[in-house]
Amino acid sequence: MSESVFTYAAPGLKFGPGAAAELGHDLRRLGARRVLLVTDPGVAATGHPARIAEQVTSYGISVTTYDGARVEPTDASLEQAIGFARDAGPFDAILAVGGGSSIDTAKAVNLLTTNPGELMDYINAPVGRAQAPTQPLLPLVAVPTTTGTGSESTTICVLDVLSLHVKTGISHPALRPTLAVVDPTLTMTQPTLVTAAAGMDILCHALESYTARWYADFDAKTAEQRVPYCGANPIADLWSEKALSLLAGAFRTAVRDGGDTAAREQMALAATFAGLGFGNAGVHIPHANAYPIAGRVRGYRPAGYPDDEPMVPHGMAVALTSPEAFRFTFEAAPERHLHAARLLDPAAGDGPDALPDVIATLMRDIGLPSGLAEIGYGEADVPDLVAGALQQQRLLATAPRSPTEEDLAAVFRESMEHW
Ligand SMILES: NC(=O)c1ccc[n+]([C@@H]2O[C@H](COP(=O)([O-])OP(=O)(O)OC[C@H]3O[C@@H](n4cnc5c(N)ncnc54)[C@H](O)[C@@H]3O)[C@@H](O)[C@H]2O)c1
Ligand SMILES: [Zn+2]
Repeated sequence: MSESVFTYAAPGLKFGPGAAAELGHDLRRLGARRVLLVTDPGVAATGHPARIAEQVTSYGISVTTYDGARVEPTDASLEQAIGFARDAGPFDAILAVGGGSSIDTAKAVNLLTTNPGELMDYINAPVGRAQAPTQPLLPLVAVPTTTGTGSESTTICVLDVLSLHVKTGISHPALRPTLAVVDPTLTMTQPTLVTAAAGMDILCHALESYTARWYADFDAKTAEQRVPYCGANPIADLWSEKALSLLAGAFRTAVRDGGDTAAREQMALAATFAGLGFGNAGVHIPHANAYPIAGRVRGYRPAGYPDDEPMVPHGMAVALTSPEAFRFTFEAAPERHLHAARLLDPAAGDGPDALPDVIATLMRDIGLPSGLAEIGYGEADVPDLVAGALQQQRLLATAPRSPTEEDLAAVFRESMEHW
C-alpha cells in the first residue's frame, strides 16, 4: 500500500538583524540558568560568541563557552566536546553559535549529556546502532553564522567516523533545536569561499528536496515507523521553491560583495527556508555522493577554512556532482527540474541539460572548483567513490530515480570537469 500521510515539524524561529541581541531574554524564557555555548575557533575569532555570551550573562544566566568544535565534526571531536560538557556541567540549556559544524556539535553534546551510552549507540545504522534517546534533551538554541546548512532547524548531526572512513549522521526528532535565532548580521564576516560553498549547500538542499521522491510514492508506514524525512510534499515544496527564488536574486551578489547587507539577509532567509524544506522532505544523490568526496579527500585545502588538514567543505562536496546528478534524475520528474531551473534563471533552456547548465554556470561565477579533477580526483577513484555513495542508502532511497552502481559511476566520471 502506498503512503498517504506526510509530516512537517520546525523549531520556533526568530529572524532578522538584531535578533541575536535578544538571546538573554529567549534563554531566560526557556528557564535557563547555566548555559553551555558551543562554537568553533574561527567563529570565536569574529567576536560574535563573546558578545552573545556577555548579553546572555546580563540576564543573570551563567555562560560556559566551549570553542573547540571541529570544522566538519568527527566522532573524536564530538567525544571531546561531550567530555568537556560532562566535566563542566551540569547545564540546563545549550546555545550553539556558528555554522553547521558548531550546531551539529551542540546537538551531539545535548544528546550525550542527557542520555546514557556513547555516540555509536545513536549513529544511523548500519554504521551505528540507531537507538532512540530515552531521556528528554535540554533546550537547544541554535544561532547560525553561515548561510548554508539549515542545521538550526533540522533533526540531524553529521559526523565523520574516523576509524571507518565514513561520514554519517545521527537523526532523531529530539535533536531538533528548540529555537532558531537567525541574525543575518552575524553572517557578514563569512570568508568568500565559505559563502560560496555554504550557498551551494542551500541550493542543493532546495533542489534535492524539491526533486525528491514524492511522499505518496513510498510504502505506507505505521505511526511508529515515521521518520522526519518523508519525501517531497506540498509543504516542503513551498519552502524549497522560495529558497530557489531567493538564491536567484542574492547568491552571486553575496559572494562578490560580502558587505551587501540586503544580499546577506536574502541568503540567510534562503538557508532557513531550504532547511525547513529539506528538513522534512530529505535530500538524495548529490548529498550521498558528497560523503565519499569529503571523506576520501587528497591534498585539497580551500581558502577561508582551517588549513591544518586537507578538506572538502560540505557544500562544495555536495555541489561537485550535482549537475550530473540532476541530469540523471531529470526523466523521473521533468517538470520539476525545469521549474527549478527557471526559478534560478528565467532564461534557462529546455530538456535534461537545463538545470545542469544553470548550476554549472553558477558554480563557475562564484569561484567553485570546475569539477572533481580540480580537487585531486581521477578516473581511478571512481569505483571507490561509488562504493562510498552506495553506503548512503538512506539518502539514495529518497532519489526520484534509483541509481545503479553504473549510474553513479557515470555521474562521478562526468563530474571530473564541468567546464
Ligand atoms: N545538521 C544538518 O542539517 C546539516 C546540513 C548540512 C550540512 N551539515 C554539516 O554542517 C557542516 C558545515 O557547516 P557550514 O557549511 O555551516 O560551515 P562550518 O560550520 O563548517 O564553518 C565553515 C568555516 O567558516 C567559519 N565561519 C563560520 N561562520 C563564520 C562567520 N560568520 N564569520 C567568519 N567565519 C565563519 C568557521 O570557523 C569555519 O572555518 C558540515 O559538517 C556538514 O556536514 C549539517
Ligand atoms: Zn547539506
